[in-house]
Amino acid sequence: MIIVGGTATNGIDENLSKIVKVPLIKVEHKIFPDGESYIRIPQLISGQEVYVVQSLYPPQDKHIIELLLILETLSDMKNNRITAIIPYLAYARQDRRFKEGEAVSIKTVLNSIRRAGADSIIVIEPHKMEELSYFNGEVKVADPIPEIAREIKKRVEKPFVLAPDRGALERAKRLANELQCEYSFIEKERDRDTGEVRIKNLPDIKVRDKDVILIDDIISTGGTMIQAAQAVYKLGARKVIAAAFHALFVENAYERMINSGIKEIITTNTIPQDPSKVVVVDVSPSIARKL
Ligand code: R5P
Repeated sequence: MIIVGGTATNGIDENLSKIVKVPLIKVEHKIFPDGESYIRIPQLISGQEVYVVQSLYPPQDKHIIELLLILETLSDMKNNRITAIIPYLAYARQDRRFKEGEAVSIKTVLNSIRRAGADSIIVIEPHKMEELSYFNGEVKVADPIPEIAREIKKRVEKPFVLAPDRGALERAKRLANELQCEYSFIEKERDRDTGEVRIKNLPDIKVRDKDVILIDDIISTGGTMIQAAQAVYKLGARKVIAAAFHALFVENAYERMINSGIKEIITTNTIPQDPSKVVVVDVSPSIARKL
C-alpha cells in the first residue's frame, strides 16, 4: 500500500500517511512557461494498492487536469489498484441540467477520473450522494462530522442544529445526533441568473436563546448561511455558528458572514484556510476510517 501526494493536498496526504503508517510519495510537479502542468511520479509503482490524494480546490480546472495526469501515469505503471482520494470534489453542484443544453459537469468530471484509471474514489461529504453514481466504480464517503462535533461542543451551551437548505437536512440530523440536540431545516431558493438566495419557507422552529449551528456542505458566496443566520436571529437565537465541510469564501464572503452576526465558522482542510479566521478540522482521520 502506498499514498501518492498530488499537487493539491493541503497536507492531508502527510497526515494520512502518519495515521495509517503507509509510505508517502510526492509527485514531481512544475508549470511549463506556457502554463501547462508537468507531472512525474518519481518512482516505479507496480502491483500496489495506491491511494492518490488530490483535492480539487481552486484553481479547480488545473487540479482536475493534474489529477488525471497522475492517475493515467499510475495506470501505465501496470497492475495497480488505484483509489483517488478527493477531499473537495469540485463541480459537484452542477449535477443536473437546470436548463436545456447545460453540461452535467459532475458527470464529466467523474467519468474522466474513472477513464484516467481510478478504480475507486473516496470523497468528503459531496454536495449530493446521488451524484456519485456517475462514477462507474467503487465509491466511499468519509464523514468528518464526529471531529466537527467535537469542536462545536467546546463552543455551545444550548445547541440547535439547522440545515439552511432542505438538501442539508440529513447532515443536520447526523450532527444533531452527535450533539444530542434538536434539528430542523429551512427552505431556500436561489435565482439561477443572479445567484441571489432567498428564504422560501421558515418553519416554526424554537431557537430562542439557543446556540444555532448552521450546517451545510459548502460555503461559496456565503449567501445561504447569511440568510439563515439573519432569520434565526430574528427568532431570538443567542448565537449562530456556521459549519461547512468545504469553505471557498468567494470574494468577501468571510467578512459578509461575520458582519451578518455569525460568531464562528467551523470548516475542514479540504480547502486551504486561514486558521486565524476559522476553526479548521482535519479530515484525515475520517479518510483513514475508510481505508
Ligand atoms: C447548495 O445547494 C449548496 O448546498 C450550498 O447551500 C450552496 O452552494 C452555498 O452557496 P453560497 O455560499 O453561495 O450560498
